[in-house]
Amino acid sequence: MKTQVAIIGGGPSGLLLSQMLNKAGVETVILERATRFHVLARIRAGVLEAGTVEMLRAAGVADRMEQEGTPHSGCYLTDDDLMVHINFQELTGKPVMVYGQTEVTADLFEAQDAMGTPILHEVSDVVIHNADSSAPHVTFTHKGTAKRLDCAYVAGCDGFHGVSRQTIPAAKRRAFERVYPFGWLGILSRTKPAHEELIYANSANGFALASMRSDTLSRYYVQVPLTDRVQDWSDARFWGKLRSCLPGDIAADMETGPSIEKSIAPLRSFVNEPLRWGRLFLVGDATHIVPPTGAKGLNLAVSDVYYLHSALIDALTKGDESGIDAYSERALTRIWKAMRFSWQMTTMLHQFEGEDSFAAQMRKATLRHLSQSETARRELAENYIGLPF
Ligand code: APR
Ligand code: PHB
Repeated sequence: MKTQVAIIGGGPSGLLLSQMLNKAGVETVILERATRFHVLARIRAGVLEAGTVEMLRAAGVADRMEQEGTPHSGCYLTDDDLMVHINFQELTGKPVMVYGQTEVTADLFEAQDAMGTPILHEVSDVVIHNADSSAPHVTFTHKGTAKRLDCAYVAGCDGFHGVSRQTIPAAKRRAFERVYPFGWLGILSRTKPAHEELIYANSANGFALASMRSDTLSRYYVQVPLTDRVQDWSDARFWGKLRSCLPGDIAADMETGPSIEKSIAPLRSFVNEPLRWGRLFLVGDATHIVPPTGAKGLNLAVSDVYYLHSALIDALTKGDESGIDAYSERALTRIWKAMRFSWQMTTMLHQFEGEDSFAAQMRKATLRHLSQSETARRELAENYIGLPF
């Protein structure tokens, strides 16, 4: 097989990159380890930055999002009963869009199918060869047969546990990492959301997030120790913990019900540098992970795709390599800013095991400052709605 850009991984990064390239007439083949059912069963965050919404429009995959997504003009940060409203619309002139990543992925699959792009599912043994030469190729197994895909470029969109990053020789890459000493226990429930906007809650009982997918579907999270397992958390225990973290009147009125999904995710900040080795380019979770506190995961993947798609188009259609030469640096500049924001939100809102009494006072003081300073709220809003690409 032969293509222009071999894309490893059919998550949101790989699918969006492929869609943008195909629209410009560049050929792609996507190699995905999992089944489509598996990819679409993963529940991930649900907040799209204004720039992400623009990219999805440019990719021609925004119709369902425009209909079923909900623009949010603000969110709340709370500290026990103190509620700080961050009015994105007033502070930045832009809202965010609440629309599940799972839906974004489904829309991308549909668009890619309509384009006729080959998406090979359940591939295994993916190996990237000669990425540092002018003629890379990828070998893999599909339906029991060993295959070879020749290409001009390889896009590593295969997530944190993929093979692409590991293909870069260890001496040519560097990792920066912070692992947080807690995870998020998340549930999905067919209940009316606790509030019409998202609530990021700091409290004496730890962090909680009240989010939603629609008027009838809620997504909630509470901070848990890394040693906890899902089976330790009955629905009743979850709702009790969540109530203890939210402002009293919101907790009192909150509708509860059976969970339809429950999972624990650890929190990590991770950046791999650089994002390029020869003709291999890393995109999305393959090269960075953010803790979910700022809802930056998918949005950062989209800005990587924004930089890379035009760079690859220039290289393939005009022989202009300036974009691909600049890709790593350009993407990293924005990645580090989102890293800073996600880390700051995480630190501002979570209890750290073994912390001293000073730490809790710092969180309280930060939230009080936010409640009184429009400048502080604007800074937060500007980052939350997404820094320019
Ligand atoms: N070969 C082929 N495919 C692979 C391999 C491999 N060796 N390893 C992983 N994959 C696939 C996974 O099955 C997955 O579908 O790569 C895909 C990577 O998708 P994601 O992990 O969703 O990463 P990405 O597309 O960069 O999306 C970033 O999704 O993970 C969230 O928080 C993240 O919101 C962010 C966004
Ligand atoms: C979610 O709705 O799943 C969600 C929203 C905002 C976040 C993280 C997750 O910061």
